[in-house]
Amino acid sequence: MKKQILVAGGAGYIGSHTAVELQNNGFEVIVADNLSNSKIEVLDGIEAITGIRPIFELVDLSKEEETAEFFKKYPNLSAIIHFAANKAVGESVAKPLMYYRNNLNSLMNILEAMKEHNIPNLVFSSSCTVYGQPDQLPVTESTPRKEAESPYGNTKSISEDIIRDTVKAHPELKGIALRYFNPIGAHPSAKIGELPLGVPNNLIPFLTQTVAGIRPELSVFGNDYNTPDGSCIRDYINVVDLAKAHVVAIERLLQDKNESNYEYFNVGTGEGVSVLEIIEGFERATGEKVPHKIVDRRHGDVEQIFADTSFANKNLGWKSESTLDDTLLSAWNWQVSIMEQEAK
Ligand code: NAD
Ligand code: WQD
Repeated sequence: MKKQILVAGGAGYIGSHTAVELQNNGFEVIVADNLSNSKIEVLDGIEAITGIRPIFELVDLSKEEETAEFFKKYPNLSAIIHFAANKAVGESVAKPLMYYRNNLNSLMNILEAMKEHNIPNLVFSSSCTVYGQPDQLPVTESTPRKEAESPYGNTKSISEDIIRDTVKAHPELKGIALRYFNPIGAHPSAKIGELPLGVPNNLIPFLTQTVAGIRPELSVFGNDYNTPDGSCIRDYINVVDLAKAHVVAIERLLQDKNESNYEYFNVGTGEGVSVLEIIEGFERATGEKVPHKIVDRRHGDVEQIFADTSFANKNLGWKSESTLDDTLLSAWNWQVSIMEQEAK
């Protein structure tokens, strides 16, 4: 019998890529999502890639009773990967209660269900945002977390604490938090990818929409930072590599290879790449020009952050594999595919 994995928020960007990798590795996937930031058609993409349509349940995991009812339907779950959260940093500043309610209640409802139904394993989507602007680079897992710059970031830090405290009190439960750096790109088939609703805040979807002619120009937020070319530096991780990290984390938990009940890992490439290098890389990989201009710094941006991945490489047994150019090309192919679908 296949092991059943609940992918909470599995219709979203990272969740859908993870559903593909789980199915490719012989797991049965149940996607639970309220479609607040995703579309049901993503299931067609997952099915087209893997030949299997995951089970789908429309459920708002932040609602206690609805979530409890949902879990009664699935008594045989082996593990949960929890992606379901709101993630727009700026929106979280404007609507903090919405972010605390959705992100924290969803997590707590899931943890309650794990206790209630003896589901031992949780993998949680955390973020490099918990490090703020670190004093030393690259950041290791022992780099201290900093006070969050946004309610969104704070939900990630608080969520990590909630998981740590809960598995401590309930030693039959185990959790792994994966601290993603900047996930980008799309599945190489271009059948699933990031679907930003409205004007994108993140660099890559804004860039691909600009090249597609949907936006006139990409604004580069600042070229006066203390970096080699003056633009900000991030660690851009390919979304399929990131999805694979979840499969490795699930197998670690299922095989009891974890060293403690609560572990956390950096999931990045280990390479810092500037905004201007992204533009150059995109032009090189795709042959397309990126219309752009330098504008003022964006409020709240950290100057630079990138991961030390040696702990994840050694202890989790995972490493990013894709080249930046291939990842940028996949992002462009996905943009082209969205436009082809819209034209139909
Ligand atoms: P996404 O918005 O594409 O996916 C999240 C999914 O969760 C969406 O399908 C949404 O409809 C669903 N969802 C939200 N609230 C829900 C609720 N209450 N009940 C059920 N479903 C709900 O986002 P993503 O980029 O795939 O991110 C996945 C996770 O990774 C999030 O927790 C996010 O905070 C975290 N993360 C993302 C990034 C990034 O840059 N994309 C970086 C670090 C961490
Ligand atoms: C990347 C770089 C911008 C848009 C955010 C969250 C973080 C994490 C990942 C979830 C920065 C520059 C961007 C544009 C630009 N998410 N930029 N022009 O801010 O690193 O991280 O997503 O946990 O918590 O804060 O990602 O893609 O917005 O920006 O110049 O139009 O691109 O200044 O240097 P960020 P991003």
